[in-house]
Amino acid sequence: WVRIVTAQTPTNIAVIKYWGKRDETLILPVNDSISITLDPSHLCTTTTVAVSPSFDQDRMWLNGKEISLSGGRYQNCLREIRARACEVEDKEKGIKIAKKDWEKLHVHAASYNNFPTAAGLASSAAGFACLVFALAKLMNAKESNSELSAIARQGSGSACRSLFGGFVKWVMGKAENGSDSLAVQLVDDKHWDDLVIIIAVVSSRQKETSSTSGMRESVETSLLLHHRAKEIVPKRIMQMEEAIKDRNFESFSQLTCADSNQFHAVCLDTCPPIFYMNDTSHRIISLVEKWNRAEGTPQVAYTFDAGPNAVLIARNRKAATQLLKKLLFYFPPNSDADLDSFVLGDKSL
Ligand code: DP6
Repeated sequence: WVRIVTAQTPTNIAVIKYWGKRDETLILPVNDSISITLDPSHLCTTTTVAVSPSFDQDRMWLNGKEISLSGGRYQNCLREIRARACEVEDKEKGIKIAKKDWEKLHVHAASYNNFPTAAGLASSAAGFACLVFALAKLMNAKESNSELSAIARQGSGSACRSLFGGFVKWVMGKAENGSDSLAVQLVDDKHWDDLVIIIAVVSSRQKETSSTSGMRESVETSLLLHHRAKEIVPKRIMQMEEAIKDRNFESFSQLTCADSNQFHAVCLDTCPPIFYMNDTSHRIISLVEKWNRAEGTPQVAYTFDAGPNAVLIARNRKAATQLLKKLLFYFPPNSDADLDSFVLGDKSL
């Protein structure tokens, strides 16, 4: 027999960034972070997990290619869910798995991203969240999404925020074993549904410095990182929660842009410096800043993760339509400065 479960998980984009770990193995961050979860129909991971007595080892495929599980992160997630597995009985298929049987059974997992992996579009976030969620269903683990988020966190930090929709906060926690470092939903996706997200894919090429090694180097060498984590982020988190609660776009966009810029300043403050943005990213920032200033009230917020692609959050559909027109004007298709593609957060645009 084979028992199969498929799950789909959207990716999330941080508006207050996670950058730096205080514990590399457990993946515990140096500061809280806040993200917005994207519409699953655009950027998501689909993962199918299967268990059968005929499987002789744990195996995993990513976008059709088998990957090595020796890195530890997959094994950590698998181990944590296995420890919480419960009895499963499916009379129709004649499957009965006792709690103690899970220790002996092996799992196969196949995961697909509908967007470029490692191009700075937070693919690991959706990937590990989806894997953990699918495994929990496969093994009938009874944990809540917040409890599962603490397991997904051990796959990739940002993954813990993808177990909820809407706006999500990853609370850094204090416990040494990481038990209180988990995600909580601030508001669901209906709370602020005027917002429209457009991702300008500046380059779909794989990034040169992974987030994991980049943030390790920043923790070791950047004084700005430690100042940011202690003195800046705690206040910003409170202000951001307030802005989200009140749907205050002016404050939201000011905080989002400032935090993205500070994260990239930390990257520059790292030795040797890390460059995630390129000229096109910088031109997009200037365009948005000029437009927001000309309008008097901000129309769009920008944020960039560990890559050159711009995540643009428009205050409503009208602003999103105007933004698309501007991007197409300044970056005409088939010109030297064209963009690879757009990913729209709203299909009707
Ligand atoms: C810039 O979660 O990919 O996207 O925990 O080492 O897997 P690991 O790093 P990862 O880092 C994401 C960094 C970021 C900011 C964010 O998502 O908060």
